[in-house]
Amino acid sequence: MSTQIVLPRILQIGADAASKVVEVINSLGCYRPIILTDKTMVELGYVQALLAQFNDSEQLPDVFDNTIPEPTVASIILALEKVKSEPYDCIIALGGGSPIDSAKAVAVLATLGGEMKDYKFPHIQTQPGLPVIAIPTTAGTGSEVTKFTIITDQETDEKMLCAGPGFMPAAALIDYTLTLSLPPRTTADTGIDALTHAIEAYVSKKANLYSDSQALAAMKLLAPNLREAYRNGKNKVSREAMMLGATLAGLAFSNASVALVHGMSRPIGAFFHVPHGLSNAMLLPSVTAFSIAGACPRYAMCARTMGIATNVDSDEHACGLLIKELQQLNDDLNVPTPKDFGIEKESFFEVCETMAKQALASGSPGNNPIVPSIEEMVAIYHGLWSV
Ligand SMILES: [Fe+2]
Repeated sequence: MSTQIVLPRILQIGADAASKVVEVINSLGCYRPIILTDKTMVELGYVQALLAQFNDSEQLPDVFDNTIPEPTVASIILALEKVKSEPYDCIIALGGGSPIDSAKAVAVLATLGGEMKDYKFPHIQTQPGLPVIAIPTTAGTGSEVTKFTIITDQETDEKMLCAGPGFMPAAALIDYTLTLSLPPRTTADTGIDALTHAIEAYVSKKANLYSDSQALAAMKLLAPNLREAYRNGKNKVSREAMMLGATLAGLAFSNASVALVHGMSRPIGAFFHVPHGLSNAMLLPSVTAFSIAGACPRYAMCARTMGIATNVDSDEHACGLLIKELQQLNDDLNVPTPKDFGIEKESFFEVCETMAKQALASGSPGNNPIVPSIEEMVAIYHGLWSV
């Protein structure tokens, strides 16, 4: 059996990788870029720094800075109108996962037409749209190297998973210096998202030798550096490790898929506007505890790779240490419970079954070592209130 691996054509990795944007665009054969980003990137001066690289005024990119966190069909339509207003031949996506996800969606819609829901899983998008040059400013989503984009249908509150090689960025500039000013909360949430990608890719039923190698390398970089990056954001060694770890975790899950944590996390985000990494963090310990019996040796390997168990520990013991560590990590990174986040218990319980059904429909729980029933997912959602 073989596995098809899909990657960007160019990965520019390391300090000041973002300063290579003109070179990368030209090497892709593109000339007329537009930048898709958000207002924070403008305020931080990152957009200006990109624009300053373009000496040829004819090539100077236009800027659309109205992408929103957790992009919606409506926000994509706005960006699409802008991108179609001129003959742009590539999109520079600058920011966290949301601007990059937005750019990936707009790139395909601008070229191939249709509506976002036409691209929803189980549809697989093979044909690419406009080339996307992704410049992540968080170490987390891995969106710069994945063939997925998540767009919320604001009318049904459903987070639509859109997948296929056609969504893969043409290039990714992975520059950890852009993460040095990230606030601790974002560092923690995006960092746990990345760690979740690595763990889920490794235990996924679609795991393969390639994704395993990326997932384990990612865990080795992420686990020992997450707390330090949270507490001391200026630590360049930790930031660099987190950035590369997040990208490798992205490569792992893009080629092996995520599993139950992500499946159950997306509906929490859609219904209660919990940031993606945070809803993953809320679920990671209990979903791992639920799933361990289906892949104990693999979870034990995660624990050993993360440095919290050794080869002397039995698989069972290592799995126990993993659950403890994931809970401790949430405590150390001050991850709120749904209640602490401000969600009302009654409204949460009211939609648990709908959330479980949406999770199942996304396909992600099907990759889990133990595929849960709707009732089991509802029980896990309820369990978040007894932590
Ligand atoms: Fe994620």
